[in-house]
Amino acid sequence: MEQLTLIGPFSQVIPMTGIPIKGPVSDDQLEIIENAGILVADGYIKTIDTYKKLLSEVKDLHFKLIHLEGNHICLPGFVDAHTHICFGGTRARDYAMRNAGKTYLEIAEEGGGIWDTVQQTRKATKKELVKGIIKRAKQHLKNGVTTIEVKSGYGLSVKEEIKMLEAIKEAGEQFPLDFVSTCLAAHMLPRDFNGAPESYLSEISEQLLPFLKKEKLTNRVDAFIEKGAFSPSDIEPYLSKAKALGFDITIHADQFSAGGSEVAVNFKAVSADHLEASTFREIELLAKSDVIATALPGASLGLGCNFTPARKILDAGGALAIASDHNPGSAPMGDLLTQSAILGTMQKLTNAEVLAGITFRAAAALKLPDRGKLKAGYLADFSLFHTTDFNEVLYNQGAFKPCMVFKNGKLIYDKHNP
Ligand code: NIG
Ligand code: FE
Repeated sequence: MEQLTLIGPFSQVIPMTGIPIKGPVSDDQLEIIENAGILVADGYIKTIDTYKKLLSEVKDLHFKLIHLEGNHICLPGFVDAHTHICFGGTRARDYAMRNAGKTYLEIAEEGGGIWDTVQQTRKATKKELVKGIIKRAKQHLKNGVTTIEVKSGYGLSVKEEIKMLEAIKEAGEQFPLDFVSTCLAAHMLPRDFNGAPESYLSEISEQLLPFLKKEKLTNRVDAFIEKGAFSPSDIEPYLSKAKALGFDITIHADQFSAGGSEVAVNFKAVSADHLEASTFREIELLAKSDVIATALPGASLGLGCNFTPARKILDAGGALAIASDHNPGSAPMGDLLTQSAILGTMQKLTNAEVLAGITFRAAAALKLPDRGKLKAGYLADFSLFHTTDFNEVLYNQGAFKPCMVFKNGKLIYDKHNP
């Protein structure tokens, strides 16, 4: 017999339905269901209708009632489609040095940058990494995130990348959010690798990727295409091998210089992320493709750089997702709600476009068609905010947090009873 739960009444439920995956969205395209209830069956949404109607429909059945006192609105659980929350140590020193005017190169020369985190992550035990991931995932849960992508990329050897991906898997088993892992062994050429980029990439494609497939540690491969990381010609043979093994591809693209997004389009990647340096040409290429363009405002805020041209991407007809990029170097904040609200302000995005970017458009970047909307058959993943108007959420630019978060129909976070 199915387990029924009725939750409500809500002043508003914003189901994020009826909005296309690509292109601009006006706020009046947002459907709003007033005085609503959500009926959940076995972790999935069964019906959304007026609370009164649902109550009368289930009254003779066996069901659990979660009756809400006061005013609440309900949004789909947020999907953070790009993070690096598996790491050891801190890069607080980089932040101070950067703000004091040091360049990327100077910071790296003085022992900072990605390589610093690699050394600190290698020193950490798997158990310590799991603890760190869960600590950071808790912070994301308090923002209403119910699905989170987590990359490796601070191991940079076959053994250490496996350690990271196993830690991500274990964290997912111990914590109620859904974790989607990604192999970012192609984050940079490790300084202790004795050879050229192509030898490193061929080593990981031969010794790491088949193992990850066999052990089901991830089905996604990411690469950082940038000066100082990997060039398009370095990375193409690696991506071809990853594709042939059946991995989905995602790319760190156009962060400081353009080039990566073209590779993402050519390889039919699921997403191209960053795009701060994308020009008209890259925006057009992305918009014509099915690649999700993921803006990472947390990296712009952490580094003090331009924001991704999100307005232009949408106006060109692209699919825009927004993610936190939470990592110890460029994006230490890890607050998706604050960052996406600020991106909305700086890029003149409608509230509907920002919400689409952290719900179903972000879910598409992870190929998860069962979430990011509130409708029958979708996962019962949603957040409640104590207000009568959903516009209050982005208006408060992240200072207004959910009071309750549900995952698969279960209350997993209650602000008043943490
Ligand atoms: O997404 N751009 C490359 N990788 C990360 C930064 C990693 C780091 O600085 O530790 C990013 O911003
Ligand atoms: Fe990143």
